[in-house]
Amino acid sequence: MKYDFDQVFSRRGSNSFKWDAGAADLLPMWVADMDFAIAKPIQEAIIHRAEHPVFGYSLPPAEYFEAPMGWLQRRHGWKTEKSWYSHCPGIVPALHIFAKAFFQPGEKVLMQMPVYYPFFGAAKKNNVPIVENELIYKDGRYEIDFANFEAKAKDPLVKVFYLCSPHNPGGRMWTKEELQKMGDICTDNGVLIISDEIHCDLVFKNHGKKHIPMAAISEKIAQNTITAIAPSKTFNLAGLQTSFLIISNPEIKAKYDKFMDSLGIMRPNAFGIQASMAAFNEGDEWLEQALDYLEGNLEFLRQYLAKHLPGIKIMEPDATYLIWMDFRELQVDSKVFHDALLEEGKVWLDEGYIFGPCGQGFERINIACPQALLEEGLNRMKSGLKKAGIIK
Ligand SMILES: Cc1ncc(COP(=O)(O)O)c(C=O)c1O
Repeated sequence: MKYDFDQVFSRRGSNSFKWDAGAADLLPMWVADMDFAIAKPIQEAIIHRAEHPVFGYSLPPAEYFEAPMGWLQRRHGWKTEKSWYSHCPGIVPALHIFAKAFFQPGEKVLMQMPVYYPFFGAAKKNNVPIVENELIYKDGRYEIDFANFEAKAKDPLVKVFYLCSPHNPGGRMWTKEELQKMGDICTDNGVLIISDEIHCDLVFKNHGKKHIPMAAISEKIAQNTITAIAPSKTFNLAGLQTSFLIISNPEIKAKYDKFMDSLGIMRPNAFGIQASMAAFNEGDEWLEQALDYLEGNLEFLRQYLAKHLPGIKIMEPDATYLIWMDFRELQVDSKVFHDALLEEGKVWLDEGYIFGPCGQGFERINIACPQALLEEGLNRMKSGLKKAGIIK
C-alpha cells in the first residue's frame, strides 16, 4: 500500500515525550521519534492483540526472535542464531545495565565524542569513568582519531567501548575498514565492544552504502561484541520498549542474562511482542517508503538552508533522520543561538554541546516529520535568529 507521510497528526495530549514535555507553543524537533503513522501491519497486530480483553503476563512465542533474525539476514546479510538473543526494555536502559554489570570500581568506558548523550549519562550515573576519543571534524564529516583510540584502548582500566554505529549525531556510517580497525584494537586489548546499531536501518539510499554490523566483521570480533538493535527507531515504536541484544559469546550473554534476572527484568510486554514481530516480518514496504520520504526531507532541508539560512551548514548524513547542523559560521555563542531558536523562534532542537563539549556550535534537528512541519520548524528558526539579531 501507499503510505501518506505528509499527514500531520496532532500528538499533543497523547502522552508524547516529544510533544507533551514542553510548552504548547513550542515545535519539538529534538527527541528521536517520528511524527509518522506506523506501518499498517504493525497497527493491525496491536489492534488484534488489544481485541483480546485479557492482559496477564506475556510470554513471547517461539517465533519472537525469528523476526529480527529474518530481518537482519534479509536486510543486512547477517546470519544470527536464536540462542544469541536477549531481551532488553530499551537500548538506553541497556547502556545503564552494562554500566552496572560490566565494570569493577575504577574501570573505565571508552567512547567517541560527540555522541548520543545517554552514552556518557549512563556511565556518569553509575560512576564509571569516561575516556573520550574525540572524533575529528574533517571536510564536513567525522573521522576517527585511531592513534588516540588505540592509546586509550591500551589503558588496562578501559574495559568497554560504547560504539554508536551508525553514529548519532552526524549520521556517519563507519566503513568496513574502520569497523575492523576499531574491532581489532578493542579485541586485542581486552576491551568489550557494545555496538549500538539502533539506527542501522535508517540509511539514506542515494549513496549506496550498506550498514555493516560490527559483529559481522570477524568471528574474533563477534566473540567480543554485544550488538543492540530494536524495531523502535526503524518503525517508530519507542513507546513499546522492546529491544534486542545479540551476544554470540555465551559467557558474556550469561553475565548479561544473570544481571537482568537479578533486576527481575524478564520479558517484553504484550504489545511490544506483537509489534516487533509484525515490524520485522512485514515492515519492509513501509520502511522503503519512509526512507524515500526522509530523503525528500533531507533535500528540502538542504535547499531551505542554502536559500534562507546560508550561514548554517549540515553534516551530510549517511544514515539517521537526525541532522547535525553547523552554526559556527554565524560566530555566535551556542547558548545565544539556541536561546534564540527556543525563545524567539519557538522551535526546540537539541543543543550540540549536550553531545559533549566538541558539539559546541552545532544543533541537532529531527527531520522525521511531515514536510509541512519541517518547513514550519525552519521558518521558526529563521524568524528566531532574525528577532535575536543574529541574522539579517
Ligand atoms: C544511538 C541511540 N541509541 C539508543 C537510542 C534510544 O534507545 P531506546 O529508545 O531503545 O532506549 C537512541 C535514540 O535516539 C539513539 O539515538
